[in-house]
Amino acid sequence: MPETPSDLKQALVQLQELIEPQLEQYLELGPHCPDRLRDSIGYSLMAGGKRLRPALVLIACEACGGNPQDALPAACAIEMIHTYSLIHDDLPAMDDDELRRGRSTNHIQFDEATAILAGDALLTYAFEVIAQHQKPETVALSCIQELSNAAGPTGMVGGQMADLQAEQQALSTLEELEQIHLRKTGRLLRAALRMGAYIGNADENTRVALSDYGECIGLAFQITDDLLDITGNQEKMGKAVQKDQGIGKTTYPGLLGVEESRLKAENLIQRAAELLEPLGNKAQKLNQLGQFILNRDH
Ligand code: IPE
Ligand code: IPE
Ligand code: MG
Ligand code: MG
Ligand code: MG
Repeated sequence: MPETPSDLKQALVQLQELIEPQLEQYLELGPHCPDRLRDSIGYSLMAGGKRLRPALVLIACEACGGNPQDALPAACAIEMIHTYSLIHDDLPAMDDDELRRGRSTNHIQFDEATAILAGDALLTYAFEVIAQHQKPETVALSCIQELSNAAGPTGMVGGQMADLQAEQQALSTLEELEQIHLRKTGRLLRAALRMGAYIGNADENTRVALSDYGECIGLAFQITDDLLDITGNQEKMGKAVQKDQGIGKTTYPGLLGVEESRLKAENLIQRAAELLEPLGNKAQKLNQLGQFILNRDH
């Protein structure tokens, strides 16, 4: 399995060095936020994680000629939404998991009500962060439109609902599964690229290319997540593995087998790279990230 190129690793570390302190700063919520709520939010938000979505916002902004620093509010906001989705995804009523990002899930560490509220708070606060800090206001509005649509009933939440329904009534076609993956995971990843493009002031062609690239890597990302549930290692993943089949989850490897699913992910990453060809050298990090998604072990 090819290693992540060291220059991409270095670039991701540098981006994390921007993202982590900014998230910490946004966690200074003042006296009106109960300590227990702040602790619960911080427990999940600052537990590590690959920070892929915020990194994509910053890298997309840079690829359009913008300054990644300028995209930090939107980058932190999407990580807040992602973290909320994980807290709720792990709840007993959903996937019922006890391990996330290498630690106990939020509802195990705190309790279910607190975990629900921490998720609610992260979801709401994400939009406050963009509205207050993303500049200029026209770009903030575009980011809010992108992120709310990607996270909402026709995006991530819709995908999560369909994913749960498919546990009860097995899906028959690949198209149905693709529609679930595109919504529950793909839309948020695509929104990261689209927000980065808005902040970097991309022209229309670049915005469309980044958006389509985001859709391809978003779908590939959930396919590799499904594959890692079978082939991955709990320690490296920081979450339980070998779970999906037991709970009747419809997945790519479940429908197509491991080899075919891997091929599907490879094709999507190949297509993603082709979409970026018009961007030339500016797309180097995005191309490397595609390879990272394909070859990841966590
Ligand atoms: C896990 O996302 C949930 C999916 C959408 C598949 P990540 O694999 O990006 O989780 P973290 O942020 O690194 O913990
Ligand atoms: C989760 O998909 C997608 C979202 C949280 C929106 P999974 O349920 O497969 O994610 P993991 O495997 O628990 O991280
Ligand atoms: Mg789930
Ligand atoms: Mg889950
Ligand atoms: Mg999974």
